[in-house]
Amino acid sequence: MKLNSIGLPSAEAEVLAAELNVLLANFQIYYQNLRGLHWNIRGKRFFDLHLKFEELYNDSQLKIDLIAERILTLDGVPLHTFEDYINSNQLEVGKNIHNDEKAIELIVSSLSKLLSIERVILKKSGEIEDEGTNSMMGDFIVEQEKMIWMLKAWQQE
Ligand SMILES: [Fe+2]
Repeated sequence: MKLNSIGLPSAEAEVLAAELNVLLANFQIYYQNLRGLHWNIRGKRFFDLHLKFEELYNDSQLKIDLIAERILTLDGVPLHTFEDYINSNQLEVGKNIHNDEKAIELIVSSLSKLLSIERVILKKSGEIEDEGTNSMMGDFIVEQEKMIWMLKAWQQE
């Protein structure tokens, strides 16, 4: 069996890198969704939400870098053009959203989609004992599930 630079089976690691690229692309769309919300949010809760959206996009920017560098660690090549991101996108793209309820809905739906991509990667990385990718997915999943709980709590006022 051919092994890659870190001793994982090359063929399976290549498949994982491709799926991580899909996650990367979707995270970039999520990031831009959050920037748009940060800029366009209006209303009496502006100051709270403007800051919260900034916190979320800063966090997703860190995750984007971790994903891209994991792809490189697996001997893959991370996508970096808008064109590639759009082609791999599965998220709803939010445009000119000013309303706070709609903004939170967009974040919940984006996170839910990211979670479903991550769970597939979690399973496949577990199958080849790729602990690096597996634990990264585990960390992302825990954080995003908690964020969904908090966003849903916000919706129940
Ligand atoms: Fe800002």
